Order: sequence, then structure tokens, then C-alpha cells
Amino acid sequence: MHLSPVIAAVLAAAALHATPAAAETAWITIGEKAFALLAEQSTPSRVLASRRVPVTVPELRGSRTMVQGSEMVLAVELDDSQLDALITAVHERLHRCGGFAQHRSQAEALTVLHRLEAAAAIVPSAPSYAIDNQLQVGALLPQMQASNLLDTIGSLSSFQNRRYNSSHGTLASTWLFNRWSQLNPGNRRDVRVSQIAHSGWPQKSVQFEIIGSGNSGETIIMGAHLDSINGGSATAETQRAPGADDDASGVAALTEIIRVLMVSAYQPKRNIRFIAYAAEEVGLRGSQDIVAGQAARRDRVVGVLQLDMVAYRGDATDLWIYTDYTNAAQNLFLANLAATYLPTLTVGFDACGYGCSDHASWHNAGFAASFPFEASNARYNFALHSVNDTIATFGNQADHALKFARLGLAYLVELASDNTPARQAAAGITVANTTAATATVASATAARVKAAAATAATATAATATAAAPARR
Ligand code: BES
Ligand code: ZN
Repeated sequence: MHLSPVIAAVLAAAALHATPAAAETAWITIGEKAFALLAEQSTPSRVLASRRVPVTVPELRGSRTMVQGSEMVLAVELDDSQLDALITAVHERLHRCGGFAQHRSQAEALTVLHRLEAAAAIVPSAPSYAIDNQLQVGALLPQMQASNLLDTIGSLSSFQNRRYNSSHGTLASTWLFNRWSQLNPGNRRDVRVSQIAHSGWPQKSVQFEIIGSGNSGETIIMGAHLDSINGGSATAETQRAPGADDDASGVAALTEIIRVLMVSAYQPKRNIRFIAYAAEEVGLRGSQDIVAGQAARRDRVVGVLQLDMVAYRGDATDLWIYTDYTNAAQNLFLANLAATYLPTLTVGFDACGYGCSDHASWHNAGFAASFPFEASNARYNFALHSVNDTIATFGNQADHALKFARLGLAYLVELASDNTPARQAAAGITVANTTAATATVASATAARVKAAAATAATATAATATAAAPARR
């Protein structure tokens, strides 16, 4: 296995030091670039294991041609107090954010690392991606309003910040819980709004569940993150972090989808869970916690969509589907949905290069996740994580965010109206076969989708060789 000189040096140093576990020990998985910065800290960290894992990335930024690349990921034990400095260093030096995920135990960090390595071999059970609810979706889409999205973004971004460990972050969680509760005024018996507490920090995730009538026990998850952060500031409680785009915009999209589904008395056959995750900005902690708890639940998650930053239009191309840490077949389904329901919009493909939002927590545990995003990775809203992430930065409008809310609603209604249990994938049924079957359906609807199908097929080809029995 090839190691970069920096990582090799630190691995050697770590072996010599074998640090005793401190009282506040933390465990993370981290990409090699961010790890190089961690290694510069004076407090030593301890590398437990490392793996080179496959990632599918565009050949060039924004390019539709996908190539199979690889990234070194390390499971590291460190002192909890090192995390803040790490977040700041990555933000300032790599001009992006974390590139790491925090775990609750050493065992969990190692399991995630192992799953990452094995992700190419996991073939999840796939639901039907047929698009066959045009009447229903067509009636709901026009009811969605940009002004409602803008209202929610305005309310959330007026909290001083929504930090996972500040009093404002806690208040924002309660505000959203009340807002979502208001969307169920008749107290439908199949609807449950709740706050999910996490151990280790005060901010709760918020969940709006609709129980499916079909009893298949299958669930579709649509998520966004509730928290915000100001990357540069050390004064966590009082820092200003409006997080209008990152990610009040995603939470606003979920809220408008819930509103329209509820006023039209929509009843899904599969379960739907909308989740506003706490503590995304500090290592995907809220979603890691929820994904870890999934094993103890009775429902089976067959699709996950993450909306994180959807308000800022950075490119002429409207919808960007990120191809790393996501499921190629479900990504193709999204492109097909856009071609069917939002035919005037254009679709591009790009990648983060690391597990950059809560979809990665689900993907790493073997679930089919997708991440439609506001712009290419060269032109997204660079005001994120600063005092300037306000509504003004995206022109005091939510027209761009509305496109994603509509795509999200189409995704949900098409998947949740189905009562056919997802086929349990068996050895021999590969993701590539699923993709090809879906592409045939799609190619009849729009020529533009053929490009997407070709892209997805390329992206899938490298991962389709080792078909394994489904894990869930
Ligand atoms: N919204 C960002 C992720 C993002 C930023 C995607 C820019 C694409 C372009 C998200 O809230 C974020 O900051 N994530 C962290 C995750 C980390 C703490 C695991 C990041 O990117 O570093
Ligand atoms: Zn962020």
C-alpha cells in the first residue's frame, strides 16, 4: 500500500508514541489532506488504521466524464480538544472544510473505515426507480412557493448562530420542532414530529415522520443540517454564523415539501422521515449518531437524499449531482426525475472529494444516498461558514432553492408511493444491471438523460465487478 511521505512519517511517530487514552478521547476517520494538518498539531494523535479507498470523481472539475480515483482515509484517535483547531486549520489552509467524521468509539471508527474500503462491493437492495406518478407529482409541484422557502431561511439565519453547542443552536432546534409541528395541525395519526437528543452536545436533531400505509417497513429519508458554524471564530457561543445557504436553505426545502405534502393530504406507502441533523459542521456527528441507531430500528432505509446548500446559483447549469459518497443508480434516477418534471433545467455532475455532508454517513453504512447541490465544486457559495452567509449573498430570493425542493418532492413521491418491497439484491445482480434497466426507461423520456446514463454507467462500471450479497 502506498503512503504519502507525510502520512508515513506520522504513522511511524505514532507507533513510537502509542499515546495513552486521554479522559476526553475522540475517534475520527479523516482524509489524507486534512490528516496532514492534524499531524502538525503539537498534541500527538494516534493512527489506528488506514485504507486507500476508491472514489468516483469527475475527470476535470465539472466534467461529465467520471474516473475512478482513490483517497487515503485514516482512523485516528485523538484528544477531543484537538477537533476545533482541526476544523479551523482545514477551513483556512485547504479552503474547504473538514474532510473528517467523528465516531462514538474506536470500534465504530474502525468499522466505518472497513466499510469504506468495502463500499465498492456492497450492493444495496434497490427500490424500483420507475417514474410512474406523473399525475400526483404534477399536481403538487406548482403549489411550492419560493417565498415560503425564503421565509424559513430568513427565520433560521436570524439566530445568532445555530452551533451544535451554543444556546442559540438549541433554541433553533426547538424553533424548528415547533414550526414542523404546526405543519401537522390536525394531528394526523400517521405523522410524528420529534426531537432526537444526542449524547455529548445539547443541540437536538428534528424529525418529521410519515408512516407509510403499505406496511413494507421501508423508509425514504430526506435530510438537511440544522447547525451552522463560523469557521474562523474561537468564541463559539456568541459568534455570528447565519448559515443562510449552509444549510438553512436545505432545511427550508424540507419544510416546504412537508407543507405541500400535508396540505394535500398525501399518504405514502413507504415511510418518510425528514431529518434536520444537529452537529453536521463538526464531523457529521448528528447523522453518524442517527445512522448508528438505525440498526436497532425496525424500518429499512431504501433511499436517502441530502439537501445541503441549494440557494446560491454559481453556474449556468442548474442542478449538480455529486457522484462521490453517493449511489450511482439513485443518482441516475435523480437525473431522470429532473428530465421528467423539471425539463427546462440543466443537470451537471461533480464531486466533493471527501464525505462533505450527511449523505456520507449513510453511504458509508451501505445505504443508497444522493447529494444534489447548488453548483459545481469550483463555483459554490464561498461565503459559507462566515458572517456573510446571508440571504443577501444569494440575492434575497429562493428561486434556485425552489428547484431543489421540487426535485426533492418528485423524488419522495415517486419512491414513497411504491409498495413493492425493494428487491433483496443477491450475488450476481450488480448495480450496473440496475442502472442499465433504469436507463432504458429513461432514454425514452429525454435525450439529455442519455448523457447522464452514460455517465452513471461509467461511474458504476468500476464498482460493479465484485457483487456481494446485500448487507441489509
Ligand atoms: N455544506 C457543506 C459541504 C460542502 C461545502 C459541500 C462546499 C460542497 C461544497 C457542509 O456543511 C460542510 O461544511 N461540511 C463539512 C463536513 C465535515 C465537517 C465532515 C466540510 O465540508 O468540511
Ligand atoms: Zn458547512
